[in-house]
Amino acid sequence: MSGVKELGYVVYEVSSLTDWEHFGVELLGMQYGEKTADGFTLRTDEKAHRWVVTEGTADDLVATGYEVSDAAALDALVDRLRAAGIEVAEGDDTLAAARKVERIFVTADPMGNRVELVTGLADAATPFESAKLLGGFVTGAGGAGHQVLLAHGVSRETYLGFYIDLLGFKISDIIVEELAPGVVADLIFLHCNGRHHTVAFGDLPSPKKTHHFMVEVTDIRDVGLAYDRCMDAKQPFEMTLGMHPNDQMFSFYVFTPSGFSIEYGWGGLIIDDETWEVRTLDKLHSWGHRPPGAVAELLAAAPAPHGEAH
Ligand SMILES: [Fe+2]
Repeated sequence: MSGVKELGYVVYEVSSLTDWEHFGVELLGMQYGEKTADGFTLRTDEKAHRWVVTEGTADDLVATGYEVSDAAALDALVDRLRAAGIEVAEGDDTLAAARKVERIFVTADPMGNRVELVTGLADAATPFESAKLLGGFVTGAGGAGHQVLLAHGVSRETYLGFYIDLLGFKISDIIVEELAPGVVADLIFLHCNGRHHTVAFGDLPSPKKTHHFMVEVTDIRDVGLAYDRCMDAKQPFEMTLGMHPNDQMFSFYVFTPSGFSIEYGWGGLIIDDETWEVRTLDKLHSWGHRPPGAVAELLAAAPAPHGEAH
């Protein structure tokens, strides 16, 4: 089935463009793309943009752009969505120009997340360059990264019907962890290329559409350097360094200026569909990924090293 090939870009609506520029460029090490009518863009590779940041009050994800391999595949995908009774509108030239794509269709998933189906996301005029990174970001065939979206009470059957049966995603795995008595995290991870997951869904206690976006770097030292930059800038953290058992990502989670998170990772697993077996795991984290407050308390509670005065 011809479906979505990769995550091309995301569009965020944010209340402070200044804070976001500092966060993206100085802390995460992205490259400033260009100023737009209502914000600016950020690059993580040769593409014209991966994050389109617009000014507004949502402080949330407002669109996800998925690339489809070619015009014929896009037409087939749009036909399939419409045959299933899903409303799909063709984007006009102004929208295509703003997104820097050849063709664009706009629809929505069952949670109401705006989904843009596109072909031909343009390259930038200049090579990617980061003033902060030793290496680069991992994109290519795996797309811009991954994101976790909130189910907001929509049934799994309903959103999988959209993402799997229509967009062509496949299940990677499921994690069900009892975080506290009666409090269960239940996430399902989906892939559309080798990247372990491009999107995941769960019912998490958040009013936002997105929980986090993950950017992956090629050099493990860049995870540590970004961690230090975020800490030195007093950017609030959601979770300290740690690793996930399913995609094996070594990462930390820092809050964006809009209150959702960015996972900054290295070493994510690549799926080979020929041999991949879907599993259900019982832990979200192999180690680490602790709340910063808990880490601070534990470190403060440790006794002074032997032989040193209290
Ligand atoms: Fe993640």
